[in-house]
Amino acid sequence: MRVFLTQEIDEAGTQILSDAGVSWRAWPGPGPMPRGELLRAVVGCDGLISMLTDRVDGELMGAGPLKVVAQHAVGIDNIDLAAARAAGVVVCHTPGVLTEATADMAMALMLAVGRHLLPGDQYLRAGRFVGWRPTLFRGIDLYGARLGIVGKGRIGSAVAARARAFGMDVVHTSRSGGLPLRELLETSDVVSLHCPLTPETRGLIGARELGWMKPSAILINTARGPVVDEAALVTALRAGALAGAGLDVFEREPQVHVGLVDLPNVVLLPHLGSATWGTRRRMAVLAAEGLVAALRGEEPVHRVG
Ligand code: DGY
Repeated sequence: MRVFLTQEIDEAGTQILSDAGVSWRAWPGPGPMPRGELLRAVVGCDGLISMLTDRVDGELMGAGPLKVVAQHAVGIDNIDLAAARAAGVVVCHTPGVLTEATADMAMALMLAVGRHLLPGDQYLRAGRFVGWRPTLFRGIDLYGARLGIVGKGRIGSAVAARARAFGMDVVHTSRSGGLPLRELLETSDVVSLHCPLTPETRGLIGARELGWMKPSAILINTARGPVVDEAALVTALRAGALAGAGLDVFEREPQVHVGLVDLPNVVLLPHLGSATWGTRRRMAVLAAEGLVAALRGEEPVHRVG
């Protein structure tokens, strides 16, 4: 059995492949693998461990031809599931294991934006801290604030639990209920996005929706960049239509809208939501286990297609 990995992963994952007798190769990077190289690399492979940065479509699956795609992520918006079904390719992913790390990151961004952690750090390092002042870097209180969660799946629910411990009033909107989106945006002090990227959620937060938010509110996105219209967000932030944003994901990742980089009330991270040692190990293990199970003709635990 031959498997290709489009990035190096935690060695706990590759150990599972080796133990199963799989012959594997990984793209050493840096950065996502160029499409042409990926198409050539999978020729003769039975399986692929893919990243959220890879376009996994009919052409790529046919180039193997692949039998299994194990996505090293929970999000699968980069995979053409209809093409996988048509080609009989088994697809699995890594839900559950990154819930807590991603929820932690949403809280970290709320605190970083709401309490001016980055400007405060830069101010101090620049030697401008000359003493305590009642008016220095005043931020928002999370205690008593309303958190609006868009998409209350595993990660949204984990953020809700953390927010309640912070004394926040938590509301949500999701496919199965909660507040209408407009009411959530109009009444929340912090809005945190946790929906998957689907045709329905692409551009969900655009100029109109940002206009519904309170000027004192902050927006957090640890889900997928294209859920937010980045140009509209830059316009809204410049106009003071909302107070700040914490973004771990971007509309055209890894590109970031140039207007965001200039804004002091925005924290920008390079998609680090699940980036802890333990979580990345568990993701690697789950992806490798799913891949090996499917190659053996067994049902992978987290099959999506
Ligand atoms: C995922 O698994 O979809 C995350 O975005 C990775 O951090």
